[in-house]
Amino acid sequence: MILENRPQGVVAGSIPLFAGHPSHELLPIAGVQRAVEAIWRGGGVTRLFDYGDEQGNAQLIEFLVERLNRVESLGLRRENLMIIGGSTCGVDMICDQLTRAGDVVLVDAPSYRDALHIFRDHHLEIRDIDIDESGVMVEEMERMLRALAAQGRAPKFYYVVPNFQNPTGITLPEPRRRAIIKLSRRYGFAIVEDDVYNDIRFGDDLPPSFYALADGENVLRLGSFSKTLAPGLRMGWLIASAGRVAGFVGSGLLTMGGGANPFTAAITAEYCRSGAWETHLQWLRGQYQQRRDIALAALDAAMPAEVSFTRPAGGYFIWLRLPPSVRVDELAERAKQENLYFAPGAGFFVNPADGARHLRLSFSFLPLTDLRGGIEILGRLVREMSA
Ligand SMILES: Cc1ncc(COP(=O)(O)O)c(C=O)c1O
Repeated sequence: MILENRPQGVVAGSIPLFAGHPSHELLPIAGVQRAVEAIWRGGGVTRLFDYGDEQGNAQLIEFLVERLNRVESLGLRRENLMIIGGSTCGVDMICDQLTRAGDVVLVDAPSYRDALHIFRDHHLEIRDIDIDESGVMVEEMERMLRALAAQGRAPKFYYVVPNFQNPTGITLPEPRRRAIIKLSRRYGFAIVEDDVYNDIRFGDDLPPSFYALADGENVLRLGSFSKTLAPGLRMGWLIASAGRVAGFVGSGLLTMGGGANPFTAAITAEYCRSGAWETHLQWLRGQYQQRRDIALAALDAAMPAEVSFTRPAGGYFIWLRLPPSVRVDELAERAKQENLYFAPGAGFFVNPADGARHLRLSFSFLPLTDLRGGIEILGRLVREMSA
């Protein structure tokens, strides 16, 4: 059988409002080509065809350490950062190193669907904690921790997408971050901060990261080039204590296969070194902001008043809550008849029934006319079903 190349399940000719990856017209293909040519001109490409250093490409590590220290005043040393094959790889490595089957991990309700998938792959017991319009509710987390402690149990980590969360687009405010760090110290769990949307922000500065607020203590922070450069490069980074980074670098995964993707890491390093990434980022933020504005205006015009939705200040996603009369699975079925696909809420919860009235839309992937047109169709279907 010859398999078609369908990025993340996108069906040709459809309107994939679910697709949470960059629109192809936003990929800096010419810039990456220039980086490749510069590497070739510079000579010494043979080493890129060999296994790489376990911690990852040294130039890229240096670039990221310098940038993060400059922009966020983090005080990172080289030993605190390693290159990984995307944030996904980091989540999997963290499960591998920090957990055993049956351990408890905490997540938000809702949380990033594919991270839940990885936790299930590792046979972890996932407990999800309710959110409100500002993100996870700290009192609920404390209640959960007390209940676990009463059974002699403690979670291994809390997994959080702190900025422009997938799927809601919500950014967790600083006081809640500080309160969660206090809980992590009292109950002895790590914080896994999956910060892949950090650089897709449309306005003011973000709250300090968990890593910054905790002075790096017991926090593992993930970053990625997937949203700001290209997911196909499979490039990201992990920040943690020097001891933890050394643990990952010495793992069987890396001693056997070497560091992450030496070939694309060298291209990424050259792209960043030349200043192209910063220029691209400035442009990209404007592009995504325009898409967010178009999506929100289309929702305002198309949806009946009983539908509520988030207004994200960055990232890729808008989270919708439907009126009780509209079942999301039925809506998905009707949308499919119109060649329209969105992400139903069920997949983002530990208990799928909790997502029965929610859905996630992404404004990152579609051409502008499809984005507007897709939301108009969705609005019409919701009106018909709630009438
Ligand atoms: C929260 C979150 N983490 C990780 C990823 C995947 O990142 P990467 O391509 O770096 O593995 C995504 C992509 O949708 C995401 O939304």
